[in-house]
Amino acid sequence: MKNVTLSTLRRLKADGETFSCLTAYDATFAHLAGDAGIEVLLVGDSLGMVLQGHASTLPVTIDDICYHTTAVARGKQGSLLMADLPFMSNASTDILLDHAARLMRAGAEMVKVEGEAWLAGAVTALVQRGVPVCVHMGLTPQHVHAFGGYKVQGREEARAEQIIADARTLETAGAAIILLECVPSELARQVRDAVSVPVIGIGAGVDVDGQILVMHDMLDLTTGRKPRFVKNFMAEAGSVQAAFAAYHQAVKARSFPAPEHGF
Ligand code: KIV
Ligand code: NA
Repeated sequence: MKNVTLSTLRRLKADGETFSCLTAYDATFAHLAGDAGIEVLLVGDSLGMVLQGHASTLPVTIDDICYHTTAVARGKQGSLLMADLPFMSNASTDILLDHAARLMRAGAEMVKVEGEAWLAGAVTALVQRGVPVCVHMGLTPQHVHAFGGYKVQGREEARAEQIIADARTLETAGAAIILLECVPSELARQVRDAVSVPVIGIGAGVDVDGQILVMHDMLDLTTGRKPRFVKNFMAEAGSVQAAFAAYHQAVKARSFPAPEHGF
């Protein structure tokens, strides 16, 4: 695959095409995901749960994300590499800049940070210094304790309006991508229509520009309760390679996510 950049994603959006994204934490899976055509790899702080066995993403450190980012950077085949800023990286702009610098030096090509309009100044500071930013909104797992669990966000009118307005504010602040997790499909469509940057969804329906899943979920390796937005792509595939390819093709064809995967 030719190197995917933000320009690639913007062009796909302009052409009305979707793109696929997947978490990756090591060189081998990063390589296979790129071979399958998956445009964006995320070194997610979900690694705290699927690799480290924690009950949430909160214990993950910037050192943990840097370690896995270096491994993914070595293995990746053309995919754009995004890395997560972990819990409390957004405590201040100074900390955010320092942590983002470390991720970019480790091989990330953009960073993802959880937050809303209050993050606008920090997003601008990152963008001014050459760090493209994806802002993760909706169900932000670093807020699990504040939310009182992993709950769909934006079902109420006021919260939905706030998410749309904040997405606009963050786009103005310079965010290159908005990622929406576990919001009603109709709200995700409204956010996509409200901003001109690509919108990536997980549990956000089909009317967005890109889809993302945690690798362990779509390979059906995750133990315990599986979220409704996950599809097992291993079920009809004989190999990890085939499962990655099936996911990529389903996203391109907009056959994934189906209505039952949304809210
Ligand atoms: O950490 C992660 O894997 C994520 C995705 C689920 C979006 O943030
Ligand atoms: Na994350």
